[in-house]
Amino acid sequence: MSEMAHLKGVVLCGGLGKRLEPLTRITNKHLLPVYNRPMVFYPIHTLVEAGIKDIMLVTGGNNAGDFLRLIGNGSEFGLRHINYTYQRGEGGIAEALGLTEHFVDRSRVVVILGDNIIGGSIKRYVERFRRQENGARVLVKKVDDPGRFGVAEIKNGRIISIEEKPKHPRSDFIVTGFYMYDYKVFEIIKTLRPSGRGELEITDVNNAYLKRNELYYDCLDCWWTDCGLPETLYRATALMRKKLLRENKA
Ligand code: G1P
Repeated sequence: MSEMAHLKGVVLCGGLGKRLEPLTRITNKHLLPVYNRPMVFYPIHTLVEAGIKDIMLVTGGNNAGDFLRLIGNGSEFGLRHINYTYQRGEGGIAEALGLTEHFVDRSRVVVILGDNIIGGSIKRYVERFRRQENGARVLVKKVDDPGRFGVAEIKNGRIISIEEKPKHPRSDFIVTGFYMYDYKVFEIIKTLRPSGRGELEITDVNNAYLKRNELYYDCLDCWWTDCGLPETLYRATALMRKKLLRENKA
């Protein structure tokens, strides 16, 4: 295990959630319900379950204070403390991650997009990342509508390209919103230029690792969905309801 095996966790809850209007007109997307809990509870739980207890949440918009009222110091998740920071405007996922540099420091970081909901655990992938010498690790998943995501082209067990929201996807495998990075991520973010949609793209970060031959991946073995659209928000609720009923936790 490397010297810097200590892992920090980041949950990204910025953005304006425009694709969910009018649900997001007066609140942040990540505070909306997914079955019986606010959306943001799930990614926090996913990190804690994977053994990561040093967590920072990045939020933005007009409702940032509501996260503090909702989550407090994180005691509900078994945490003694949780850190918060604020993203002004809509600079993108990579910009939001850049705001956590002082918190992550020289550690490694596991990042989860606050609207990515899964039916299982990421523990074993996190353990693989801990054992990884350096670089980045992403989780990929086969989906029906790859063009909405970062699409990964995979050959001989390696990712060979990632394209953000391509018109003609080269595969059905997409990079989910679970990212693991070594300390170099912050230097990489500083070199990025805004994309066509005016944001610093996390796909560009992953491609920078790809170029250095330091990008690894696992296939997520449980169900996965984002909650960015009315349809996928609904899907998240339906899948979570089923899971919780099965586990007698509903
Ligand atoms: C973002 C990323 C994309 C990734 C997706 C996962 O998309 O840019 O690469 O596949 O999250 O949820 P966005 O939610 O910004 O459209």
